[in-house]
Amino acid sequence: MSTHFHPLRLTVIGTGYLGATHAACMAELGHEVLGVDVEPDKISALQAGRLPFYEPGLAELISKHVASGRLRFTTSYQEAAEFGEVHFSCVGTPQKKGESGADLRYVDAVIDSLAPHLTRPTVVVGKSTVPVGTAERLAERLTALAPVGAQAQLAWNPEFLREGFAVDDTLRPDRLVLGLQQEGSAAEVLLRQVYAPLLDADIPLVITDFSTAELVKTAANAFLATKISFINAMAEVCEATGADVTLLSKCLSYDTRIGGRFLNAGVGFGGGCLPKDIRAFMARADELGVDQALAFLREVDSINMRRRDRMVELAREHCDGSLLGRRIAVWGAAFKPDSDDIRDSPALTIAARLQLLGAEVTVYDPKAMDNARKMYPGLSYADDPLQAARGAHLILHLTEWQEFRDLDPAAVRKVVARPQLIDGRNVLDRDDWRAAGWTCRALGRP
Ligand code: UGA
Repeated sequence: MSTHFHPLRLTVIGTGYLGATHAACMAELGHEVLGVDVEPDKISALQAGRLPFYEPGLAELISKHVASGRLRFTTSYQEAAEFGEVHFSCVGTPQKKGESGADLRYVDAVIDSLAPHLTRPTVVVGKSTVPVGTAERLAERLTALAPVGAQAQLAWNPEFLREGFAVDDTLRPDRLVLGLQQEGSAAEVLLRQVYAPLLDADIPLVITDFSTAELVKTAANAFLATKISFINAMAEVCEATGADVTLLSKCLSYDTRIGGRFLNAGVGFGGGCLPKDIRAFMARADELGVDQALAFLREVDSINMRRRDRMVELAREHCDGSLLGRRIAVWGAAFKPDSDDIRDSPALTIAARLQLLGAEVTVYDPKAMDNARKMYPGLSYADDPLQAARGAHLILHLTEWQEFRDLDPAAVRKVVARPQLIDGRNVLDRDDWRAAGWTCRALGRP
């Protein structure tokens, strides 16, 4: 670690996915961290090292630093203001109910609750994904509400962590982006101290204005969503022509200008970020009068949604045209592997639709069962993949957990009514499954 490293006192406001990860990782870097949340239950669980969601390595890191004394939690904004030299705002920006735009009430509430307690110079750092223009508005609000006035500075430092890799993405990010009102300001000096260990490790730092920092995040997610929908659009063309989208994607990936990541065709993207972020981005572009610039994102969204329709259609074809009374096993419920997050999960929306069309659907997921049961109590659930498959006419592989790749196709064959498999993620070894007597289909492959 750098000889220049000075531990700072940081607060992290909002202890959801982003905040819990950021708090634990800042303690791991050597800082003293106070996590702040308005929900006392959350705080006492975290203090006891319990996480309300699954993220590899995170519970251990929180326990480690609760024990080391570098990480504590509180519900008091006053305590936070007294403690922190830098305050990170990590609250959520969900999609507004019935609208495309982002709901900023939590982001606003952080400033409204914290600012009146700020009596000495400090920096408030926004990390949430927000519509461009939000930081400027919040900076004005912060100055107006803080007793210390303009010496309470705002900075914007978007977060790019992925669920399933949250700890690693925070400790070893591809880049740090810092949106500032003024280069060389106190905010920049303090944030360079916060991230000193990462800067020493040569993680690139880009200093920008507020708008650029906000846009980097939305643009990154829009690009990733576009890349996924691009390959899924190619999958549609492949299906019409007999071509194989996995080979197409492999060939494209050797072109270093294109690259192979986020080029896996399948049932498409879900989760709490990509779908809501592209919609909020379009809504903001509308407000800014540049809706045409992002019109393509509407297409990205509908290509993505069509994948779910296509999966339902394929399932129906494999059930001789009618889903009524057909037993279907769905492997996977989380929106992606190594996560228990089911927000906008393609797997569960497909499962629920099949059930509505009369199928008897049994779902299994290694981690997301509790969340799935709560949200979709009408579906059946099994304790393991084989139990889910028992008596099934068809198996749909919809979230690519390693556990499913490790299954023995011959053993699964013994329990099903019909050996039919549709791989919605294009990762199972078809040759193995076919060799064991299975009929295998996938999206975008002959
Ligand atoms: C995404 C971004 O990848 C992060 O950089 C960002 O910080 C985060 O949103 C956020 O805004 O907070 P995440 O939602 O965790 O992260 O999930 P991704 O790994 O991006 O996957 C999104 C979806 O795309 C998943 O449903 C996944 O199955 C799907 N996907 C991904 C594909 O269908 N094909 C691919 O090739 C890659």
